[in-house]
Amino acid sequence: MVKKITRVPKHVAIIMDGNGRWAKSRMMPRSYGHRQGMHRMIGLMEHAYDLGVDYITVYALSTENLKRPKEELDGLFTLLRDHFLEYMRKVCARGVKLKVLGDVSLLPEDVREIIREAEAETAGFSGKGLNIALAYGAREELVRAANEAVKKGEPLTEESLSAALYTGGQPDPDLIIRTGKEKRLSNFLLYQAAYAELYFSDKMFPEFSDADLEKAFVDYAKRARRFGKTDEQCKAED
Ligand code: IPE
Ligand code: IPE
Ligand code: MG
Repeated sequence: MVKKITRVPKHVAIIMDGNGRWAKSRMMPRSYGHRQGMHRMIGLMEHAYDLGVDYITVYALSTENLKRPKEELDGLFTLLRDHFLEYMRKVCARGVKLKVLGDVSLLPEDVREIIREAEAETAGFSGKGLNIALAYGAREELVRAANEAVKKGEPLTEESLSAALYTGGQPDPDLIIRTGKEKRLSNFLLYQAAYAELYFSDKMFPEFSDADLEKAFVDYAKRARRFGKTDEQCKAED
């Protein structure tokens, strides 16, 4: 059943955190948590599009995560090798365009090839968008964009910087959801998040249900987004 929610975020970003702790609490290896997390993410994406979202951005692997033990990273890359294409095909079948955000040169070559293939398959789609942040760090993204401007010898403007980010041309996130009890951004979308509403859930990601997503959207719909203006100004513009 898809609930009617009055104001659905156009762009929702999700920091999927807590896979490891969820697995540990079940005396299972962290890799099991990542597998269940990836599976849950697909269900959540489909539900979010059903609710009317246009863009979804998922934080799947940060540049800092690349310093994790080799065994955990190998497990994550194997998961991508085994399931990324199949999962992306499932979600993107509704005409969603896929983009991977991040410094993919830091990923193994065969994983990069899978990403290229998945992106190429949706290249002709427009309208809805799906961003998967892999080997992503907002500081790296900003430094890279700034260096491009230096090379061109052009001063940056808010518009040109925004366009040079991995998310260039897309709307900023309206809502950022983080699971796993922590209340921080951990180097995610630092520039794009300027006016995002933040929602934190104590649930570990593999147990964050479709109903939990709806709860976050209902909470979002109640927020007064003023963008620096007064309530009176906002009402006058409505
Ligand atoms: C998030 O879950 C997924 C990745 C960072 C790859 P974690 O692996 O951070 O899980 P916890 O926070 O240790 O429980
Ligand atoms: C943030 O989670 C990165 C992703 C969810 C991919 P982390 O588990 O890496 O964040 P910290 O280290 O607790 O801040
Ligand atoms: Mg974590």
